Amino acid sequence: MRVSELSDDDRKWVQERTELLFGGDFVVSRDEVHDPHKLPGFIATEGPERVGLATYSIDGPDCELVTIDSLCQFMGIGTLLLERVEETARQAGCTRIWCITTNDNLDAQRFFQKRGFVISEVRLGSMAKIRLLKPNVPRIGCYGIPLRDEIELSKPLVDLPSREPFQLPPIDC
Ligand SMILES: CC(C)(COP(=O)(O)OP(=O)(O)OC[C@H]1O[C@@H](n2cnc3c(N)ncnc32)[C@H](O)[C@@H]1OP(=O)(O)O)[C@@H](O)C(=O)NCCC(=O)NCCS
Repeated sequence: MRVSELSDDDRKWVQERTELLFGGDFVVSRDEVHDPHKLPGFIATEGPERVGLATYSIDGPDCELVTIDSLCQFMGIGTLLLERVEETARQAGCTRIWCITTNDNLDAQRFFQKRGFVISEVRLGSMAKIRLLKPNVPRIGCYGIPLRDEIELSKPLVDLPSREPFQLPPIDC
């Protein structure tokens, strides 16, 4: 599998994927509208096929992972894409990466939390407001769960100083 920077040839496809996945060709985060097809990002390909994409937006020390989309789940595509975005954000001097998912998206919650993200904010009921802008956002989401709340997750990108491994003192038996 290959991960490369999103090129202009990919933008139409990114727009189509966004429409399919997010109920419109834009996403709303913290009241801000993003057009993923206009953002920088990465595309994963397997031979000639596009199998995943991630888009991001850098704002000073913060990098927002705006979208991440794996066409074949549980094969390592999401991990590779996230690693590339984190690497790019670090190189740009970012100290934090954050993203938004929804209460029904248990796969994403698991994915991010297992990769160092922590839940930093929960906006209860906020999908109702987003539906005013995006009426196509479904009421029922993944696993038949009512789609109601936004969950914001974030992860520090600074390298934390490594700690000496903890050693038990010798015990006299
Ligand atoms: C969230 C999402 C991006 C994760 O992508 P993914 O490609 O499934 O992620 P990965 O395959 O890298 O990792 C998922 C799991 O598969 C496992 N995995 C990786 N390679 C594997 C393989 N070859 N065989 C079996 N499992 C594998 C990983 O270990 C990981 O498990 P873990 O979380 O317990 O560590 C994906 O579920 C997705 O696209 N969802 C829809 C869009 C979305 O909701 N985006 C997030 C909000 S913007």
